[in-house]
Amino acid sequence: MNTLPTTEIPRDPNRSTQNAVSPFRYPGGKGFLSALLRHRLAVLDPNETRIFAEPFCGGAGAALILLADRDVDMIMLNDADLRIFSAWKAMLDETDRFIKQLRSVQLNMDEWYHHRDVVAGFSGDQYDFNVGFSTFYMNRTTRSGIILKSGPIGGYDQRGKWKIDARFNPERLTKQVGWLSENRTRIELTNKDALAFIDQTRRKPNAANTFFFIDPPYVKAGGRLYFDGMSEAKHVALSDILTSGSVPHWLLTYDDAPLVRQLYRSERCSTISVNYSLQAKRKENELLVEPTR
Ligand SMILES: C[S@@+](CC[C@H](N)C(=O)[O-])C[C@H]1O[C@@H](n2cnc3c(N)ncnc32)[C@H](O)[C@@H]1O
Repeated sequence: MNTLPTTEIPRDPNRSTQNAVSPFRYPGGKGFLSALLRHRLAVLDPNETRIFAEPFCGGAGAALILLADRDVDMIMLNDADLRIFSAWKAMLDETDRFIKQLRSVQLNMDEWYHHRDVVAGFSGDQYDFNVGFSTFYMNRTTRSGIILKSGPIGGYDQRGKWKIDARFNPERLTKQVGWLSENRTRIELTNKDALAFIDQTRRKPNAANTFFFIDPPYVKAGGRLYFDGMSEAKHVALSDILTSGSVPHWLLTYDDAPLVRQLYRSERCSTISVNYSLQAKRKENELLVEPTR
């Protein structure tokens, strides 16, 4: 494949994993792009409501930093995975119940198996507080943060150096969830397919002052990591919407796959280096795609 230019990611002087705003851990989470995104947000009119939309929000690492730092006035978080959606909704709309539970929940293997079974056995079609809480519990206690596909921190026998509670700090999580609730009116949450979400949002009256940050599952490895609602046809349909010029402001990150390069060949593509694994410090190159206009 041709060599593309590299985009250096500026460091955000105020933000590190130590003071992340999102209560989620996410493999490949994009909080580290906050300074770059802040720069790109200059296209929005500061005299109008500035909106930041994440159609594949996952842990919404970048959106929450930009909201906390007042770079935008509102964020729209959307994820098609009902378990992820339920976790966000439980935090945002049943905050006291959520915090009570996170402060009293046991951090041991019996509890872990319980939450794993809740998440694995879920086949519902609407919001469920318990599924949301269990999803969150699994995210904070599994080795990679991947909700169903990896084991507990410290191993099944809990003989590792770090134990199941290593990433579950009730004080800190209470603050993060409490902050979400205080900012509830600035957060819109939906559970749609990303394509429908983008299509509907771009038709809204304030679409011209909305910036879409789009971080879909990988074309190559998406299904391995988290819920993957993207067939190849959908990856193509997403590029049709974005390259049509009907979405005014957007930035896209993807795996560096031939299909992605092909679909976005008319746009500005560069590579960025992403710390992908939550445990090993594995780095991968991803593509950054921005409109040429
Ligand atoms: C790469 S992750 C996003 C990570 C996020 N940017 C962060 O910083 O945490 C992709 C997310 O897209 C969601 N997803 C997968 N297919 C989807 C679809 N068709 N529509 C909306 N969300 C989808 C997954 O549930 C997952 O949370």
